[in-house]
Amino acid sequence: MPYKHVKIAGTGSYLPDRVVTNDDLAVKLDTNDEWIFSHTGIRQRRIADDSQSPVDMAFEASQKALAEAGMEPDELGMILLSTCTGDYNYLPSSACLLQHRLGANNAGAFDLLAACSGFVYCLEMARCWAVCNQKPVLIVANEMLSRITDWESRETCILFGDGAAAVILTPSRENGLLYSYLGADGENSRLLYVDGGSRLARGREPIAPSYVQMQGRTTFSIAVRALEQVVLKILKDNKLQIEDIAHIIPHQANMRILETLAKRLNIPIERLHANIDRVANTSSASIPILLDELKEQGKLKPNDLILTVAFGGGLTYGGNLIRWQPES
Ligand SMILES: CC(C)(COP(=O)(O)OP(=O)(O)OC[C@H]1O[C@@H](n2cnc3c(N)ncnc32)[C@H](O)[C@@H]1OP(=O)(O)O)[C@@H](O)C(=O)NCCC(=O)NCCS
Repeated sequence: MPYKHVKIAGTGSYLPDRVVTNDDLAVKLDTNDEWIFSHTGIRQRRIADDSQSPVDMAFEASQKALAEAGMEPDELGMILLSTCTGDYNYLPSSACLLQHRLGANNAGAFDLLAACSGFVYCLEMARCWAVCNQKPVLIVANEMLSRITDWESRETCILFGDGAAAVILTPSRENGLLYSYLGADGENSRLLYVDGGSRLARGREPIAPSYVQMQGRTTFSIAVRALEQVVLKILKDNKLQIEDIAHIIPHQANMRILETLAKRLNIPIERLHANIDRVANTSSASIPILLDELKEQGKLKPNDLILTVAFGGGLTYGGNLIRWQPES
């Protein structure tokens, strides 16, 4: 009998060694630790070395996840990689580069672009593929936002950090991914974007540096509403109360967004897991990095319900209801 469900069989993450503190940024920018921390909750971020490429980070995280799952790369059926910062802008996909580096000789590979919501999108896409094909999927969220950040813009560069995380999803008798909700709001695509691309003929558009552009205030208020809506929908559709959830793992965009979300949900801020003070916003890698940290700290127990919730450029939003190490 084919398995109807999937479960997480391994996780791994990778953060670059270089730590850049708010004080480091204040040396070159008109900003300071007090402003950044009070407006974002961020104290420091990890920034990749100039010699590293994004796929270098994906490779490190993937090897850890494979080792934990006790799996060889050639057992993978698919590699699904979420990124806004591919090694190449258009071709080839980072997933294909990773497939070759790992020696995942029996796997298909493709990239998925859903910005900061990329991991929650990948989990659901991977579930569908794994159940249909009865083979394991490697999901990697891999973001080197330092490469698309304007380091002279104090409005944006303070927010982002680099990092990667990987998850192995395997077909399973027990249900380890109970539900996902994915949404999009293309009408607001210009709130958060990186210029460039193929929408205009060559020469019709001034070539601008490809940096993240953001309308911070509007993004903030739309993010809070979207995150709240996702949490409430997941609870309602699964007939759950917030107290039934052992771990809420939100995308780490801004601590003030999380504080406002907690108020709206009428829960103490401690119910929302956070590591933004140490790693800043790592886009789609933020949820699986935090998931991997909680696992390493021994905080995730078998059968725990985990709710993920994300919001990002696109605009995109969504969340998952995960059962950790499900037991029948
Ligand atoms: C970016 C963000 C922290 C800015 O905070 P804010 O309170 O909205 O601040 P504003 O942009 O309105 O700027 C207020 C003032 O602080 C200044 N300022 C902005 N960045 C600053 C910095 N790093 N240091 C010091 N001052 C800064 C502005 O220039 C402005 O000065 P002015 O009043 O003299 O014009 C906030 O809007 C935010 O977090 N938005 C969501 C961003 C996000 O999470 N995006 C990713 C989604 S996945």
